[in-house]
Amino acid sequence: MTQDELKLEVAKAAIAYVVENEIVGVGTGSTANFFIDELAKIKHKVKATVASSEATAARLRAHGFEVLDLNDVTSMPVYIDGADEITASGAMIKGGGAALTREKIVASVAEKFICIADGSKLVETLGKFPLPVEVIPMSHAVVARKLNAIGGEAKLRMKDEKPLVTDNGNYILDVHGMQITDPVAMEAAINNIVGVVTVGLFAAQGANVCLLGMAEGVKTLQ
Ligand code: 5RP
Repeated sequence: MTQDELKLEVAKAAIAYVVENEIVGVGTGSTANFFIDELAKIKHKVKATVASSEATAARLRAHGFEVLDLNDVTSMPVYIDGADEITASGAMIKGGGAALTREKIVASVAEKFICIADGSKLVETLGKFPLPVEVIPMSHAVVARKLNAIGGEAKLRMKDEKPLVTDNGNYILDVHGMQITDPVAMEAAINNIVGVVTVGLFAAQGANVCLLGMAEGVKTLQ
């Protein structure tokens, strides 16, 4: 099976976690896009959605979903999203699609984070995938020096030869070469650097359930 076929399988499996007539929190990325397209097939059972990026909001609206402002939402049963890396205990690196801050905010309101990923995302130790860190633009150099001092190599994410600008108007530093043996401690330490908006480590609040697409079928970790 191709990676896209595995993503489609987990997107389909995630539909079982959607609570009827409730709000669904929706992530960002190619796996989340497969999920949105599957969710559209049961649109009549979905009260409304909350999106973790402008791209996701546009795709949801194109399918005719109502997309709520998170400020108007007090609870949602599930948030469903992909990951760049995940451990068996549910700690994740996210932000490959630059949406980490909104993803973490929407996930914080949900009762459960359902991670959907192809099997290649399962790792023993996080850090092979460069760790995304969203930063205030004026601070990118000072934050990069601090990240380098803790053992990484921070690179400013570029697009069309300019720094990539997130939906929140910020920049992303991708930190290479990290061996993240204590994700909870690392998440707190990086979030504590002045100028950091959010680190793409989701460990203090990780995934409650992970649906992993494998050649032999969808494997559930919880
Ligand atoms: C976006 C993310 C995505 O969930 C992550 O990058 C995985 O993407 P994909 O489903 O395309 O492999 O965190 O910010």
